[in-house]
Formats: sequence, structure tokens, C-alpha cells
Amino acid sequence: MVSIADLTVKPLPGALGAEISGIDLCHPLAGPVVDEILALWREHIVLVFRDQDLTMEQQLEFAGNFGTLGARKQAPDDLRERTEGIFQTNENILLVTNIKVDGQPVGAFGDADMWFHIDSGYAERPYKYTILHALELPSKGGNTLFSNTYLVYDALPGGLKEKLRGRKALHIHEYLRTEKVDIAKDISGSPHCYHPVFITHPETGKKAVFVDRLMTRLIEGFDEAESERILNQLFDLLESPEFLYEHFWRLGDVVMWDNRVAVHGRTWFAKEENRLLRRCTIEGAPPYE
Ligand SMILES: [Fe+2]
Repeated sequence: MVSIADLTVKPLPGALGAEISGIDLCHPLAGPVVDEILALWREHIVLVFRDQDLTMEQQLEFAGNFGTLGARKQAPDDLRERTEGIFQTNENILLVTNIKVDGQPVGAFGDADMWFHIDSGYAERPYKYTILHALELPSKGGNTLFSNTYLVYDALPGGLKEKLRGRKALHIHEYLRTEKVDIAKDISGSPHCYHPVFITHPETGKKAVFVDRLMTRLIEGFDEAESERILNQLFDLLESPEFLYEHFWRLGDVVMWDNRVAVHGRTWFAKEENRLLRRCTIEGAPPYE
């Protein structure tokens, strides 16, 4: 069984992330190794393990070391075709893919690019962690960009921090990838929730920004134009290169991140090429400031 001494940790080039080697994730992990991974996770936010080969069961068993497996969110009936794939037979698994069989999507979230977002940020309890395993990749593109939202919080001008302290923002999702939800219409049928603009990480005690371009639509207490202006300022900062790590996927990669303090997005890739990542998550709690 692998021990802590076998692990090698290499910080990744960017504002967050570390690559860990010396461990095969398909075997059960000893308690101290799980604790060490959790400590590294708190420190680096994004962890990358190369050259893994996990079955779905092994991936779920590995993920189960870190909490209760996240159940795939059920979309309302009229949006369901955007999230349900014919190969998504396990309630804890989502297939992030553009692959179709007989014209039917096998998973969700298709091809091309995807704006920065928080996984299930529109829910009362957004996922705590996300764990992706690369099974099929395009020849180029489809990279995942991560932003370190602790650093973004620290970089905010004092006046803006003061202005946004205690504010909440509307997060809403209709399972689109590069399009904001129109909130002028009746939104009661679209999954949505209000969360603090700034959150405190329950374990590190540090503050972070908790908004994203895809799903965050309105900051309460401001008129729409002012809210839009502030949100765009936050989105531009979140997506500034100085706060990012860009992951160039290799087959077999397992990439896992703390969904509370990293927003992530996807670069474009050609629809003629297949991309398949197997995703599982860990249930989270309501964020608080
Ligand atoms: Fe995502």
C-alpha cells in the first residue's frame, strides 16, 4: 500500500494547482494518505494525477474517501435533454462529452467552449469537490482553465470589497455553455439560488469570490445596470491570466478541484473530434460569508 513518503508533489505553472505522482488511484488508500491528499488539496485547490486508469467503480471508490458522493442534479423536464445522456446510468456519474450514439448524446455539455462556472453553483448546496478522469480527448483544445478565487478576493480594491460585503448574488442555470440566462422572464422553472458574493472556506478560514460568468446574473441591492457593471468587473478579474492555471489534458489524467474556491471554464475544441471526461463529485454545504 502506498505511503505518504511515496508521494511527489510538484506545483503547477500558474496561480493554483499541483501535480502528484507516485500513487496509483485504483488501489484503496490508507487513512494517512487520504489526509495528506486533503491537506494538499487545501493548499493547492487543484490536484492533477497523471497516467491513471480507473474503472467507474474505482473512480467512485477513490472519490468516496473525501465525502458523500454527489448525486447528479436532475434538470426540470423541459431542460432535461440538455443534461441527460444515454450512458449516464449511475446517479453519481456525469459524462462530460460531445459523443453521440445513434444521434443521441451519451452525456452532457457537448462540444466547443464553456464559460467559467462553479459546478452546480445554482444549487443551495453546490458540490464541494469535482473529480474528472480523461477517457477520450481531441487533438487540440478542450483545455480546462481554473481561477484561484482566493487570490481574486485578495486583489479586489478595498472600496469594492466594502461595497459587496454582505451582498448575495443570483446563480441560475439552464444547462447552456456560453449564454447567460434571461432573467427578465419567469425564472421559477429554472434552477437558481442566491449565494454570498464572498464566501469563507470552512476549513482554511480564508475568503474567496463566489461568482462566475455563466451562472451569476444579479447582485441583490443594486439596479440591473450597476449589478452588471460590477459583475463584469469581477468576471474579468477572475479570468485574468495572473489568477489562472490552464490544464492541457492527457489521456488518463485525474484532475480534481475544490469547487468552492476555484471557478473553471473550457477552451474551444472541434465538434468533429471526441472528448469524454468521466465526472463525479462530493456533496457540499450552503456557502456562507
Ligand atoms: Fe464544470
